[in-house]
Amino acid sequence: MISPIKIAPSLLSADFAMLRDEIEMVCEAGADILHLDVMDGHFVPNITIGPCVVEAVRKVSSVPLDVHLMISDPEKYLDSFVKAGSDWITFHIEALSEPQKFIERAKSLGVKVGVSLKPQTTVAAIEKILPLVDLVLVMSVEPGFGGQSFRPEVLAKVQELRSAASCPPDIGMDGGLNLDTVPQVVKSGVNVLVAGSAIFHAQDPEAMVGKLREVALKEVVSL
Ligand code: DX5
Ligand code: ZN
Repeated sequence: MISPIKIAPSLLSADFAMLRDEIEMVCEAGADILHLDVMDGHFVPNITIGPCVVEAVRKVSSVPLDVHLMISDPEKYLDSFVKAGSDWITFHIEALSEPQKFIERAKSLGVKVGVSLKPQTTVAAIEKILPLVDLVLVMSVEPGFGGQSFRPEVLAKVQELRSAASCPPDIGMDGGLNLDTVPQVVKSGVNVLVAGSAIFHAQDPEAMVGKLREVALKEVVSL
């Protein structure tokens, strides 16, 4: 089963001095989820936001928040990010030796759970936990920065995931998504489209949310 297309603007490319306006704009434009990138300068070579920013975003967002934890110790910070108002917590499989424990704890705190894979990480690394998660987020760039080029070789992982019996209905892709890359992404079986620079650096960011959906839906119809 594949869930409907969901557009998830990544706030990393938003204007942080105008965050309320940026959030309201994408929500009104029809965003389904807001994607928030948490980086610790250790798991990835960049530092971004913490729970206090998630809490502030929660107050002005009318759509669920997916908090993408690109941090080395997700267990340590799980409670704070849940308390801050995350609806989905997406962790990296490369950061945890006991992912089952983390997933169970997160679920008991009432959030949905996603697992993310770096471009080099294989589907085999998450095979065991596939039946436990609500989302698989396949990275199509090396995590850490917005505005990088899409890596088409990761699409094979989506096809592999979709043919697995225990695949969750939501598969996301994150990195380098835009009007040119979305068709092949949707065709491969992705339904959650995370886009940062394509939306927030567009001439008309509001229209871009709709355009991405339109391009994606064309592929769904032709599948
Ligand atoms: C990168 C982040 C992405 C980032 C994507 O590590 O996980 O969510 O915002 O940015 P674009 O869409 O510009 O590639
Ligand atoms: Zn992300």
